[in-house]
Amino acid sequence: MANFTLPPNSRVQPGTTHKAPAGAKNVRSFKIYRWNADDGKNPHTDTYDIDLDACGPMVLDALIKIKNEVDPTLTFRRSCREGICGSCAMNIDGTNTLACLKPIEDCAGDVKINPLPHMPVVKDLVPDLSLAYAQLRSIEPWLKSDTPAPPDGERRQSKEERAKLDGMWECILCFCCSTACPSYWWNGDRFLGPAVLLAAYRWIADSRDEATGARLDALQDPFKLYRCHTIMNCTQSCPKGLNPAKAIGEIKALMVAREG
Ligand code: SF4
Ligand code: SF4
Ligand code: FES
Repeated sequence: MANFTLPPNSRVQPGTTHKAPAGAKNVRSFKIYRWNADDGKNPHTDTYDIDLDACGPMVLDALIKIKNEVDPTLTFRRSCREGICGSCAMNIDGTNTLACLKPIEDCAGDVKINPLPHMPVVKDLVPDLSLAYAQLRSIEPWLKSDTPAPPDGERRQSKEERAKLDGMWECILCFCCSTACPSYWWNGDRFLGPAVLLAAYRWIADSRDEATGARLDALQDPFKLYRCHTIMNCTQSCPKGLNPAKAIGEIKALMVAREG
């Protein structure tokens, strides 16, 4: 993992204020976390006053407007702008969510924007997700089967078997859930966190996968799975409406069932 420094949030200071153009009538302030490892400055919050009459409706629209028209140094991730890629995950008004799905009008007063919490910051609103992706690789998120595929290549499922994957295949790996989880904050190096455990259960629950036992063996560990204490922050924070806490509960139930 790259050696990025975690900026101490307690030292976040007020930064520059960028005023809206003269004559703007529908102005909203966006208070955005800034940190750049290369400039030697402490983390700070810059304020951008934006004319909402000349801006799209979503928080991501405002960020793009700021970057294009006010301050090209502002750094954030985005791609699809429709809740599919997961790259614009950030903390908006205290909640982890996707900037492209968050209407500005749903924010009360100033719009406060920070990177996903408790992750190292690469720059501004860009968290370092190296550890989370390494954890995802560790659960081997692909179909494992010794049985050769049928001649037509299709490994079929019944409608009921396929339905068991609903609520899991929709995960876009934004990590809003993992970075809202207190257990992941404190033990993120050893607890896999809700996003990765949801991905693990997606394959455990797949009728076509023949590695269920090995997958459960790999999770039989005091930290990887059992640091979840069912606090449910993960489920409450998922911008796709998924329920990783339920998936974690299903894995724990399978562990108990095979021991009994
Ligand atoms: S239910 Fe488990 S994974 Fe979800 S926030 Fe709570 S401790 Fe974290
Ligand atoms: S479960 Fe939801 S919050 Fe967690 S990574 Fe998947 S889409 Fe994001
Ligand atoms: S830009 Fe892709 S999810 Fe927001």
